[in-house]
Amino acid sequence: MRDIWIDCDPGHDDALAILTAIANKDKLNILGISTIGGNQTLEKVTTNAKNILSFVRADIPLAMGQKGPLVKCLEPSDEAHGESGMDGPYFDHGDYPLASKNAVNFMYEKIMSTENKTIIVGLGPLTNVALLLKSYPEVLDKIDCISIMGGGINHGNITSLAEFNIYVDPEAAHIVFNSGLPILMAGLDVTEKAEITVSEIESLKNKGKVSHLAYELLHFYNKSGQQFGFINSPIHDLCAIEYLLKPEIFGGNHYYVDVNTNDGVSRGHTFADKRLVSEKGKNTLVLETVNREKFVEVLINALEKLDNELVSK
Ligand code: BDR
Ligand code: CA
Repeated sequence: MRDIWIDCDPGHDDALAILTAIANKDKLNILGISTIGGNQTLEKVTTNAKNILSFVRADIPLAMGQKGPLVKCLEPSDEAHGESGMDGPYFDHGDYPLASKNAVNFMYEKIMSTENKTIIVGLGPLTNVALLLKSYPEVLDKIDCISIMGGGINHGNITSLAEFNIYVDPEAAHIVFNSGLPILMAGLDVTEKAEITVSEIESLKNKGKVSHLAYELLHFYNKSGQQFGFINSPIHDLCAIEYLLKPEIFGGNHYYVDVNTNDGVSRGHTFADKRLVSEKGKNTLVLETVNREKFVEVLINALEKLDNELVSK
């Protein structure tokens, strides 16, 4: 059993990552979930997180984090996830309780009061995580590693070199990559291979309540992905969770990875030092391959498990 904290900005793929983590409670103990302004405003992504958690009647602490990045301003976009940040399904499940403390303080207290070391899973811009590490350096000893969806050592999506989560807050990402903690990086190198096909999406329709919710999320997400040239849908954020559940379905290499924080065309670029010997050591496991069928199977099984649990609740 591993203790994890999920920091996220739901987001269709964030939602599927959260659901998969919840379904695997025999392997992952979710200490809490925090939200960060990213895909959409902090208010919108927090509403989305509440909706997902209410839908499956979860009992996981939820806290709101930072509204936006450390240095620049947040510029949310409707392109990938719609106006709400998680368009598609309609939710009417009432309100989910929110912690009264800011996510950074809340995360600190939870992580420090737990016996095991915690794995932080970052599915959005890394602002909350960077603030945690900088505000409370003693927390470093209580963190096992940081599993992120972010970056890409070969290409970007928001610019030709930068991936969205890193691009939104490169200064925060720079702090995290240089924290001394081991980084598991599910960047575009692997996440664009972690696709669900249109027929696999269709197979979720009317299957069970949670599977159908995933269908509605993926149906919208697939349509919006077409404007970026995708036929199938890469479920980026799910990789950062699935690696913790089934590392054997992924392949990757250890590199020294850092983040470009300069203004200009390469702002937010995560670059890897591929020399055999790097003076800075190898801080990051960069995931580069995934067994796509097995990846989708883990998701489908998780949704089915939640379908059954919801029936008996
Ligand atoms: C990342 O950006 C967001 O749109 C997704 O939720 C994912 O975290 C992919 O670049
Ligand atoms: Ca995300």
